[in-house]
Amino acid sequence: MKATATAHRDFTISKIDKRIYGAFLEHLGRAIYSGIYEPDHPTADSDGMRKDVIDLVKELDVPVVRYPGGNFVSAYNWEDGIGPKEDRPVRLDLAWHTSESNEVGVHEFADWCTSVGTEMMLAVNLGSRGLDAARNFVEYVNHPGGSYWSDLRRKNGREEPWDVKLWCLGNEMDGPWQIGHKDAAEYGKLAAETAKAIRAFDSSLELVVCGSSHSGMPSYPDWEATVLEHTYDVVDYISLHMYFANHEKKTDNYLSLTHKLEAYIDTVAGVIQFVKAKRRSKKDVYISFDEWNVWYHSNQQDREILDGNNGWPHAPALLEDIYNFEDVLQVGLIINTFIRRSNVVKIACIAQLVNVIAPIMTERGGPAWRQTIYYPYYFASRFGRGTALELAVRCPTYDSEHYSEVPYADVAAVHTDDDGVTVFVVSRHPDTEIELDIDMLGFDQLQVIDHQILAHGDLQATNTSERQDAVAPKAGSGAKFANGRLSVTLPAYSYQMIRLAR
Ligand code: AHR
Repeated sequence: MKATATAHRDFTISKIDKRIYGAFLEHLGRAIYSGIYEPDHPTADSDGMRKDVIDLVKELDVPVVRYPGGNFVSAYNWEDGIGPKEDRPVRLDLAWHTSESNEVGVHEFADWCTSVGTEMMLAVNLGSRGLDAARNFVEYVNHPGGSYWSDLRRKNGREEPWDVKLWCLGNEMDGPWQIGHKDAAEYGKLAAETAKAIRAFDSSLELVVCGSSHSGMPSYPDWEATVLEHTYDVVDYISLHMYFANHEKKTDNYLSLTHKLEAYIDTVAGVIQFVKAKRRSKKDVYISFDEWNVWYHSNQQDREILDGNNGWPHAPALLEDIYNFEDVLQVGLIINTFIRRSNVVKIACIAQLVNVIAPIMTERGGPAWRQTIYYPYYFASRFGRGTALELAVRCPTYDSEHYSEVPYADVAAVHTDDDGVTVFVVSRHPDTEIELDIDMLGFDQLQVIDHQILAHGDLQATNTSERQDAVAPKAGSGAKFANGRLSVTLPAYSYQMIRLAR
């Protein structure tokens, strides 16, 4: 089977905001406790943070991490996580039916961000709380000193403000499961007033208002229209979330779900344009896709805890999806979609980063390792920075039960900041090789400098603590750049990255 694509160095989609390779850490399950923080762990640093996890996160070069939730934030008192640890209260976390010890709060998280070399993206609670708690939190985090909250931060050991630029105005406020859930108009008004107060403190901060929790929500896409009509002038991004599942156990259906993702992004981009036109505004609002991943493997085993049958455990195993090779393909497809929609998607956060639906797994007191999905995320984050190229792709397609004309080869290409090109390609074909030929107009004298492939005979193969490298990339072979054309063979069900440079 053959597929062709044409690229031109001047035919671009957008400069990619590196924050599309962001991640998310919530006070949920073992993401924080025994994920990033485990004072008794053999690798723990003087702050109690696991050095083995820090090293894996550093390897990913994550540009931004959203914190502290998620559903958790909607009943969170940020003040519980500051001051001497022995004075911090234990609280019941209503979102996940667990106990929160508050051993980790904004100070500990900020120090960890410095250790891994990432920026913070902080969420304020607009569920059980509102404008007042939000403005105090922003003052605590960002004001140099000489005010009540900033001086309290200094007293708590942090002299300099953290200068956090990116703030989320609540989380999934359209969801009836959310503590303090609101309808679109109620939330839109609250978000607008909170945004105005935060902007009165510092007009340069970037604010993210909640869009839909997923595109199946009954209020979607009216939610986006109403919320933006209230907030358009005072926010910079609208957040979208989407999780992918193969409940049907049909790979062709599963791998066609990126069609749903594309439609979701395109629809919300259209709603943004609609509100912009309605308001006769010159300003642009973009999409922050700040929760995305595969999430379904652990659904059944979580029921006991989420139904409250186990009381209020501290940091139990929750949402611990063990990813397989099939999920590598899905994550590769999702990231390719974000690259191709980088003109409207400026932030995206894989949800989450450690233990909870995450590319990194840990054992309490034991090792940390890379799940299968670590790799497509790693390759894109490390080598997918630059300008997205518009590709004209011709490729045979299939019809899944839910979507038509799904191309067997999914391609994204980035003109990198150092004048190379990185190509990411996923084959959705179950049994046939595809010969891909890309005509790369305006890119002379390139050569293949790196070619990595993930392919596996077993779609269900996983990485575990005992077999950490069952699914891992290998050096690819046969990718050639000659006469301005890149040719590469795509084995059935495969993910590849090809890097070209002069
Ligand atoms: O990431 C897990 C949960 O998924 C988040 O807490 C919530 O925002 C979403 O529903």
